[in-house]
Amino acid sequence: MLRRPRRNRQSAAIRGMATETHLSAQHLIFPLFVLEGTHVRSEIKSLPGIFRFSPDELLREIEACMQLGITNFVVFPAVADHLKDQVATYSYAADNFYLQTAREIKKRFPECCLISDVAMDPYSSDGHDGLVENGEIVNDKTLPILAKMSVAQAEAGFDMLGPSDMMDGRVGVIRRALDEAGFSKTGILAYTAKYASAFYGPFRDALDSAPKSGDKKSYQMNPANRREALIEAELDTAEGADMLMVKPALHYLDVIQVLKQEQQLPIAAYHVSGECAMLLAACQNGWLDFERAMPETLLSIRRAGADVILTYFAKAFAQRYPGGI
Ligand code: PBG
Repeated sequence: MLRRPRRNRQSAAIRGMATETHLSAQHLIFPLFVLEGTHVRSEIKSLPGIFRFSPDELLREIEACMQLGITNFVVFPAVADHLKDQVATYSYAADNFYLQTAREIKKRFPECCLISDVAMDPYSSDGHDGLVENGEIVNDKTLPILAKMSVAQAEAGFDMLGPSDMMDGRVGVIRRALDEAGFSKTGILAYTAKYASAFYGPFRDALDSAPKSGDKKSYQMNPANRREALIEAELDTAEGADMLMVKPALHYLDVIQVLKQEQQLPIAAYHVSGECAMLLAACQNGWLDFERAMPETLLSIRRAGADVILTYFAKAFAQRYPGGI
């Protein structure tokens, strides 16, 4: 045998040289949930080890993560029911605690990259990402609401905005609104190929943001489709997105791969709440070993082509692998 692939696997040193994919904290974005109050750390039942933090506790958590080398955070607000309405007014209200928290984070940690969520669902009494009229999620009337929310978030100091709503044309509308308001440096991490997935359950538990009626299939993508992701990617790129995201990650590795091959912008992948919960549940049962399954999972997403991974395991990874893998 002239070719023996095992020669390159025979020692840790040789395997190290032959490693094709690397992962370290700089590739990760840690999703965090914030709610109003003080001294609150409430664990999400369906996502053990992940908490909803009051702003004071959130600052502490971010500080701990920064010490581990995590520099990128996406923050989602859990909004009290009485603040929700049909048009998501609270999303750009002057006294909005989410925006105030962002100001505090950027004041304390100016070097971090702070990413927002742009969508109506956390603030909407209908629990949909867009405006609901006669049971229909209407596209074009949602856009000015998203633009207002975006400018308010840019004013609060977010470095990048994350439109997760899947309305048509929203990246362009947001880009123009930001530029007109003087925020040409604020970036857009577009949720480009976001699927109507069953794997968002724990996230909706965390925010109590499930739709009050119907589902999200008229705006989030059909899990059966891959080519359609290329249409979304071309539109988001043309409309001014800075990074393109695929969501979920593990069940859509082929979509990550094709976007990486076909597009020039950095590709992000959202390893979503349900995908993390599955692994945690199996580990709690003793059926899988978290220490091995967690890094293998994240590596698979990188190998498929993700430059950046949003994952609830970011802190766990950074704690175990300070120098990366
Ligand atoms: C909503 C939003 C969702 C997630 C991120 N932004 C849920 C949804 O679309 O219903 C899910 C993330 C996760 O499950 O971790 N704008």
